[in-house]
Amino acid sequence: MIIREFRRPDINRVLEIEVASFKDPYPVNILIDIYNLGAGFLVAEYDNIIVGYIIFWIRFEDEGHIISIAVDDYYQRKAVGSQLVAAALKIFKQYNIDIIRLEVRTSNKGAIKFYKSQGFTEREVVKNYYEDLEDAVLMDMDLKE
Ligand SMILES: CC(C)(COP(=O)(O)OP(=O)(O)OC[C@H]1O[C@@H](n2cnc3c(N)ncnc32)[C@H](O)[C@@H]1OP(=O)(O)O)[C@@H](O)C(=O)NCCC(=O)NCCS
Repeated sequence: MIIREFRRPDINRVLEIEVASFKDPYPVNILIDIYNLGAGFLVAEYDNIIVGYIIFWIRFEDEGHIISIAVDDYYQRKAVGSQLVAAALKIFKQYNIDIIRLEVRTSNKGAIKFYKSQGFTEREVVKNYYEDLEDAVLMDMDLKE
């Protein structure tokens, strides 16, 4: 498996994984806009098939943000997600980022466990964060520690 930069022709496959993974998937134009605005966008490719992706952002000079990560159902629990996070962390470190933040739905217990396994800590719950009013867990990872 390789982790590489997203390329425009990857968008349909990324969208397929996004739609299968989230009940409120980003529409294709938003994904393209995020990419065009300079977000980090990496894909995991296995046997010439995209099996997962991560999108991240440097929000402030010293703060990174994970916008989205998803792995095709069939390829989950095979360390694809871990490798995507590791690749993003490497880039954050190159930019001297101190802290990485993310939000996750409180019901998404699998993702919360995944993020914890990667070194993220649960910080607080924000009520009614999502459009459907579900709460979000805010998690972060201090890269200075
Ligand atoms: C979250 C997600 C990206 C994890 O990807 P993955 O490739 O399956 O993760 P990994 O195989 O690298 O998992 C690493 C560790 O995280 C933990 N973990 C991952 N998924 C888990 C789950 N569903 N339940 C419990 N623990 C989990 C485990 O400790 C796992 O190690 P193990 O398999 O040796 O037990 C994937 O489940 C996914 O795409 N989910 C749907 C989209 C989503 O919810 N994204 C996050 C939204 S903010």
